[in-house]
Amino acid sequence: MREGILRRFGGRLPEAVANCDLSLGEGDTPLVELREIGKKLGRGRRAYAKIEGANPTGSFKDRGMVVAVAAAQAGGARCVLCASTGNTSAAAAAYAARAGMACAVLIPAGKIASGKLAQAVVHGARILQVDGDFDDAMRAVREMEDSGDAAVVNSINPMRIQGQKTAALEICEALGRAPEVHCLPVGNAGNITAYWLGYCENNAQSGTGLPKMLGCQAAGAAPFLRGGAIERAETVATAIRIGNPQSYAGAERAARESGGRFIAVSDADILETQNFLASREGIFCEPASAASVAGLLAESESDSGFIPDECEIVCTLTGHGLKDPDIVRIPKPEIHPANPASLKKALDAIVAGHS
Ligand code: F0G
Repeated sequence: MREGILRRFGGRLPEAVANCDLSLGEGDTPLVELREIGKKLGRGRRAYAKIEGANPTGSFKDRGMVVAVAAAQAGGARCVLCASTGNTSAAAAAYAARAGMACAVLIPAGKIASGKLAQAVVHGARILQVDGDFDDAMRAVREMEDSGDAAVVNSINPMRIQGQKTAALEICEALGRAPEVHCLPVGNAGNITAYWLGYCENNAQSGTGLPKMLGCQAAGAAPFLRGGAIERAETVATAIRIGNPQSYAGAERAARESGGRFIAVSDADILETQNFLASREGIFCEPASAASVAGLLAESESDSGFIPDECEIVCTLTGHGLKDPDIVRIPKPEIHPANPASLKKALDAIVAGHS
């Protein structure tokens, strides 16, 4: 049975959640070698994907949400509240349902992937669509926070960061030490902040070393490359369509202290990488997640020396591809008669074509 992160990492998490019995079996996600990406990188570099789409609601948010909802419940809250580009709302809705709490989510109207919206609906969240983008919704949540009617479970809640740091602990456990480079997509910037916290704590405790952090942004939503917040972020990777990251300082610290950096990748490169991972590595992640591998490839191609030879690199694939099925162009199907002879002919052509 999967024990979930509260049990598994209890000693490393805040006391407020020490005795909480809330779990959907989150965490303990696969670390899988990306062999085809490794070939592209060359020079003895090994790349791995931390497949966070294998969490119960299909994204890394479950790690932080189980801690945030457990703490809210322990503190007597009856409702949780968040702004979201989709995944946070799905995780908040699921864990609130599990905890028997109400959940309200503010989402940018028309700009969240259909799988994520479906999750918030089925888990019984109250959905408040906002006429604006994520940054507008986030501002509204911050203004409502003081009223104290609901516990805010965005990553401005330190419990979220505590939960999400556990992914870094798992990676060190799997590799026996930290990788040399860690790549991940950056939107609201909570996750890069959390990973850096996890790596630093682990290094202080067990000398596992520290990776250089590579924060990957979509070119149309890249405040870290502009040096500050931007208005009206735009990208096909709706999960990271964010211009005013709430954990800006934490992400900057992670890059600075680790000797890391930020990189921007185009929407075309994000989609091409998503397709490559699906068709060549067998891993279907959502577009925002593919930004981590697209960023790694771009950094490696730039030959800046940032990616050492003979090293280990981990990319976080933050969410499952099924979250955003509409991004996949499905060709008009060829309809065959349901008879074995004609289907056999089609099959022969498939086998011959795959050489
Ligand atoms: N990847 C995915 C799939 C995400 O959903 C998010 C953030 C990120 C990457 C970026 O992580 O914000 O910690 O820098 N999604 C949030 C949400 C904003 O509302 O679901 P971050």
